[in-house]
Amino acid sequence: MRQDTSTILSRLTLEEKAVLCTGATPWQTVAIERLGIPSITVADGPHGVRRVADTETLMAESLPATCFPTASALASTWDVDLLRALGEALGEECISLGVDILLGPGNNMKRTPLCGRNFEYYSEDPLLGGELAAAFIEGVQSKGVGTSLKHYAANNQEHKRFAIDAQVDERTLREIYLAGFERAVVKAQPWTVMCAYNRLNGTYCSQHRWLLHDVLKEEWGYDGFVVSDWGAVHDRPAALEAGLELEMPGPRPDRVQAVVEAVRSGELDESVLDAAVARLLQVIWRAAETPKGDGEIDVDAHHALARRIAGEAIVLLKNEGGVLPLPALRRIAVIGATAKTPYFQGGGSSHINPTRVDVPLEELQALAGDAEVSYAEGYAMEEGFDEALIDRAVVIAREADVALLYVALPTFKESEGYDRPDLRLTEQQVALIQAVAAAQPQSIVILNSGSAVMMDPWIAEVPAVIEAWMMGQAGGGAIADVLFGTVNPSGKLAETFPRRLEDTPSFLNYPGENGVVRYGEGAYIGYRYYDAKGMDVLYPFGHGLSYTSYAYSNLRVSAQSFRDVDGLTVSVDVTNTGDVAGKEIVQVYVHDVASRLSRPAKELKGFAKVALQPGETRTVTIELDVRAFAYYDPAYQRWVTESGAFEILVGRSSADICFTASVEMESTQVLPSILDRDSTVGEWTADPVGAQVVQPVLQQMGEGGDSEGIGMDSSGFLTDLPLASALGFFGGKLAAPPEEVARDLLAQVKGKKGQD
Ligand code: BGC
Repeated sequence: MRQDTSTILSRLTLEEKAVLCTGATPWQTVAIERLGIPSITVADGPHGVRRVADTETLMAESLPATCFPTASALASTWDVDLLRALGEALGEECISLGVDILLGPGNNMKRTPLCGRNFEYYSEDPLLGGELAAAFIEGVQSKGVGTSLKHYAANNQEHKRFAIDAQVDERTLREIYLAGFERAVVKAQPWTVMCAYNRLNGTYCSQHRWLLHDVLKEEWGYDGFVVSDWGAVHDRPAALEAGLELEMPGPRPDRVQAVVEAVRSGELDESVLDAAVARLLQVIWRAAETPKGDGEIDVDAHHALARRIAGEAIVLLKNEGGVLPLPALRRIAVIGATAKTPYFQGGGSSHINPTRVDVPLEELQALAGDAEVSYAEGYAMEEGFDEALIDRAVVIAREADVALLYVALPTFKESEGYDRPDLRLTEQQVALIQAVAAAQPQSIVILNSGSAVMMDPWIAEVPAVIEAWMMGQAGGGAIADVLFGTVNPSGKLAETFPRRLEDTPSFLNYPGENGVVRYGEGAYIGYRYYDAKGMDVLYPFGHGLSYTSYAYSNLRVSAQSFRDVDGLTVSVDVTNTGDVAGKEIVQVYVHDVASRLSRPAKELKGFAKVALQPGETRTVTIELDVRAFAYYDPAYQRWVTESGAFEILVGRSSADICFTASVEMESTQVLPSILDRDSTVGEWTADPVGAQVVQPVLQQMGEGGDSEGIGMDSSGFLTDLPLASALGFFGGKLAAPPEEVARDLLAQVKGKKGQD
């Protein structure tokens, strides 16, 4: 089947090459039968296969497939092996449904909890997101099915997502918004990368050569092809030139024509088109190696996997007095519309037609033994306030031993296509929780949401809360498993739960104005921001409780002093000190004690999930490579390591650090000088070579003149003064004019650094 690409290219006509770069239908590429080039089929994604029966239609109910938990749930497992297993199951379903490429995973960062599509994204942290995305990709692709890592890049809101111009500085991009993509691309090489709809710093991502070509292909060594998000292309030849190989959806004869004309007129070099077709063919041949459309899927096994993942994803946020797991009870009140009609996935392109759906109420009954279970709706999923529903719920809550409140964000509050209006539950839901909690002290809230919700109005009134996310088709069973302790919860938050919307990092810079959103908070998103501000949050990044307890001990680092290129190995012993088996997620953060550029107080650089029987101790070992200590410095246009002190923080969450180790890192990098005439005297003296050459001049100048005479501290004044200005003000005693001295100092620095 696989044929030599250059031979094929030479046999394709210009029109055929152009037509290959645009879809044949909304879900298929063009086949060129005379040359044996098959069509490939793509389908959404990411947490199930949304394969429409008729590939000519864009939106239609899809064929039945397993609906697994969505990305925010998956991320809360912090379990790369589980994501790989999920990927394998999805790969099998793709094969059976005739799908060559699954359109996922989504790996945009959660810049704001308001993003309507956060349920499809993993985390506010690029290391966690990147590792999970890589495992997902590896799993799917191990089956001979491709993936599409999306939406590249800076698609962090739904508001005006088709056009908004995200203005993001390069350091923030490199360290946050591109970092998760980079990790997944370098580790797992997704067959395709899907570009985002929005603009980035003025240019549509679909036409962004720096993004698609320079960074993705040249720097990261990406070998697959770039596909547009559906309808993201505006100028087809420009998109090809920038490195976008496939435009979707098709057919778009106008686009094909535009490419043909651009080549004929000389506007587009035919070699650009050839390179695009070559990349497409590589993936088409790869896909063709695994025939699709055959084979049954094991529906029961996949449903069971969906239940296992949902159970691992549930985060026990609060459990005062150990009210959970539920003891043997006589009467249980189940309250909430979603106990009967579960909320288990989000609206939009990822919407799966499930093979079956577990009803939470029935699953609870199945595990409740002899307990009598009563039910009240409590709230309707549509808008509107109905006091009578609350009153009925209060009655059954009062009569029971415990009240279980199943509360889900309604679709009008959260979906693809629009952002959330606020972080609140509905007015009715808040009133319901408060009324039930007042009547029944043992009230437990079970939340379904794709992202953080605000709980301040009611959190103090209930002893326990579990976050069950958009939990997939088997989530109803998983909730029952956790409530009764069949599953010991082990999920931890992959995103911070803030107290108020006003506290969130992007609050003053979202959703943008006049079509532009400025990422003014820079790299300080999520816990990086709350840490920097010393701000109290509702539940911190990495938080999650268990029915057992874990003790950490014996933190070790492989070296007290190490070279950046050698990295560092961190080990810690974790003991299950309770009496049930469980899984603990160990988190390793790095703190750079002093650096030239501002850095977060800590950043996640490694994690591991470990299963422990009661009384068991295991050693968890985490490798930190050079990147774990580096930051991106736009002045050098590279990742930089600075020699000096670092702290290694090991903890249960970003806010619960158990141990800290101090280490010294030696940088092996030789960096060019970035000093210039506008660098301050402080910057000159902080640079070892700069200090060497500038000190004698400063001494001759008399260190800042008599600024004390006007009530200023002379050395402070000088430190912040650009060198050229300092020479201008105080360089009178020098032999040469200030400009000449500045030029000479710069030449000396360059000479010493070998930059001549
Ligand atoms: C979404 C993508 C999706 C595509 C195809 C777009 O609107 O942003 O995530 O893969 O549609 O359905």
